[in-house]
Amino acid sequence: MPLSKSLNARLNEQITNEFYSAQVYLAMSCMFEDLGLKVLAALYRKQAAEEREHGLKFVKYIPDVEGRVELQAIAAPSAKYSSVLAAIEAALAHERKVTQQIHDLMALALEEKDYATQAFLQWFVTEQVEEVGTQLQLVQAAKLAGDRLLHLEAYVAQSGLLK
Ligand code: FEO
Repeated sequence: MPLSKSLNARLNEQITNEFYSAQVYLAMSCMFEDLGLKVLAALYRKQAAEEREHGLKFVKYIPDVEGRVELQAIAAPSAKYSSVLAAIEAALAHERKVTQQIHDLMALALEEKDYATQAFLQWFVTEQVEEVGTQLQLVQAAKLAGDRLLHLEAYVAQSGLLK
């Protein structure tokens, strides 16, 4: 079943959302780098690369179901956060927003009885559980570390999140 025009448009929007996520995480990575927090910088650089991969999954899927990819402008990310904790909390809020975007896409695929797109989106539904969980873990660790940011660096280094 070919992709409907409405779902095609929404999947194209999600490419932009995923690439925007990459921008957000790269900006956070740069902030951490500026502060000398090399481990957090590496973690968010890795997260940015994963978001780009997420966008590319949509780029690959859309033509497979006879849709057309239309790339849109990617907005500039917010460059300033008041603290490391504020940046990580913003990452958590961002992942929650992306989860809602994916769920909205799934709802549309269900409404249209587009089973292929439902199967495609299921990977993202599962991925979002992990991504929100990771950011929650980091928010908790950042709160526990407080001003001792090198403790947070050490925690992230041994957490396995950088693998
Ligand atoms: Fe692609 Fe972190 O959502």
